[in-house]
Amino acid sequence: MIAFPEKEEPVHIDRRAFLATLGSAAVVEAMSSEARADALEHYMIAQLDKPAGPPAQPLVVRRGAGALFGGPSPSGQRPELTALATMPERPTLLDFIRFRGTPSIGNHILQSANDALKKGEPEETVLACLLHDFVLNLMKTDHGWWGAQMMEPYVSEKVSWAIRHHQALRFYPDPSVGYEYPELYVRIFGKDYVPAPYIKASYESARKHKWYMDARMITVHDLYAFEPGMKVAIDPFMDIIGRHFKQPKEGLGFDGSPVAHMWRTLNYPDNPL
Ligand SMILES: [Fe+2]
Ligand SMILES: [Fe+2]
Repeated sequence: MIAFPEKEEPVHIDRRAFLATLGSAAVVEAMSSEARADALEHYMIAQLDKPAGPPAQPLVVRRGAGALFGGPSPSGQRPELTALATMPERPTLLDFIRFRGTPSIGNHILQSANDALKKGEPEETVLACLLHDFVLNLMKTDHGWWGAQMMEPYVSEKVSWAIRHHQALRFYPDPSVGYEYPELYVRIFGKDYVPAPYIKASYESARKHKWYMDARMITVHDLYAFEPGMKVAIDPFMDIIGRHFKQPKEGLGFDGSPVAHMWRTLNYPDNPL
């Protein structure tokens, strides 16, 4: 038998809720100490048996946060945060891919570029595939827009346009190139998900654009870029990067471009301000 808690219990008991189960103050007053103690024991056991309900998912980091900052994958997996290498003074795209790209996103973009290369796509399409999701290390929400902006000063207009629009195009099938709505999206967004009006508008304007196929091909190679265990090296893409990515001589983040801060944020992800 246990004693009636006159003071705060180490095990949390909602005293008011417990007393409410007994009845009015007069009823409680009239109970013997033994009766109160028995009632408390039953109450506590009942609390133990209560279904816990859906397990609470404490919000540790918001879903839109980039993977380098601990943001979860679209399916909810959280990356392990490890120590980061110091970046060179004038970091290149390659340094960012190697030292600031998280493994799963790195594998995905390399697989995607590899698929484009194997299938004989033009070099700019291979580059667009290589860069299309790199920004997920920094920011997940609206990654097509963020990603395009981040690359814009360093690639052709067509490549950044294609990166911007791949986000919306992912939601819309195009049987002419064998692109179907991804099974992964059913798992992430649910079966009856309807893309937001701004995504639909982006898709509709892209559909009529002369570069539609450039963005569409990113989504086509994207589909084949989730092979578990497949590792692709960066080496086959070095020449393509050299020819189509305008590496600033001061280093990414230090060239005074309108997007330099995005690269610096990846360079210094632990800076508090
Ligand atoms: Fe993407
Ligand atoms: Fe992707």
